[in-house]
Amino acid sequence: MALSIGNAEASQDVDLKPCGHQVGGHFSSGKHAATFVDSSGKFYKAFQDDIRSAREAGIYEAIFNDSEEADVCKEDMMAFRPFVPKYFGILVNGDLKMLALEDTCKDYKKPCVLDAKMGLTTIYEWADAKYKAKNADKDLVTTQSKLGFRVTGFKVWQADKGEYFVADRHYGKELTPQTMPAALAKFGTNGLVSPFDVYCGSKGAVAQIHALKKWFETQQSLLFFAASVLIVYEGAATRAEDVNVAIRFIDFAHTFPSKGNRDDNVLAGITRLAELLQRVGEGDTQ
Ligand SMILES: Nc1ncnc2c1ncn2[C@@H]1O[C@H](COP(=O)(O)OP(=O)(O)OP(=O)(O)O)[C@@H](O)[C@H]1O
Ligand SMILES: [Mg+2]
Repeated sequence: MALSIGNAEASQDVDLKPCGHQVGGHFSSGKHAATFVDSSGKFYKAFQDDIRSAREAGIYEAIFNDSEEADVCKEDMMAFRPFVPKYFGILVNGDLKMLALEDTCKDYKKPCVLDAKMGLTTIYEWADAKYKAKNADKDLVTTQSKLGFRVTGFKVWQADKGEYFVADRHYGKELTPQTMPAALAKFGTNGLVSPFDVYCGSKGAVAQIHALKKWFETQQSLLFFAASVLIVYEGAATRAEDVNVAIRFIDFAHTFPSKGNRDDNVLAGITRLAELLQRVGEGDTQ
């Protein structure tokens, strides 16, 4: 399929196929899938809404653009880069517009993926009424308002069965602070490696989330609503050394310049997520 990237100047052939490892978010966009991947290791997210998608593209541009942006601090953006997928611009094909990102799952044989939507609230004062109505209730009835995050979905490879266990958005909505540890324990094992291997240790999920937390403790550039921490590891791993955990912060459709404020809403959720993963890694699922 011939597609153009960015300002429709460069054109290239891209072999898109619907993304098989998506766990959260929109699964369709009109008559198309909502997400695609290609053989070069890129992930494509279809525009759902021009304003939100343009906003997300603007945030990625602020993160990766080396020029001084009036609204954000350049040092904050540079320090944030390791935590987000690389950004390759906007791709256009007829009426299909997509953000082109690095596919966080590209190096995995059997990617295990969990999407945790971050923040004690996903609502912002200046959001439109439709967004507020849709999300206010979800924040209250899910773990969002209690833990500062909710699981929107995960998939974990089960080595003994040779198939994935898929937790969809309904599974995530039903979770409570009491049942969350068991859910995180379920995600953290393929039956051969353990939640300790995935969550603990110097390259585990907790250490990487702590690094992200450090960034949130100092950055005063962005406020994130309804953004997610994506946790990925290798479901084909048979040894702790091969779990290859990756953490990425994604989904900037509701992200705004913070004008010198810290994002305490998301910081609270990140702190809690790291604490819970540590506990679960150490075998405490109560
Ligand atoms: N860079 C990426 N690499 C691999 N998978 C990704 C990447 N970005 C997103 N995903 C997958 O796609 C899912 C949905 O992504 P995202 O949260 O950005 O979309 P969304 O919630 O539908 O967005 P929006 O709120 O903008 O409508 C994630 O849960 C994850 O499984
Ligand atoms: Mg999302």
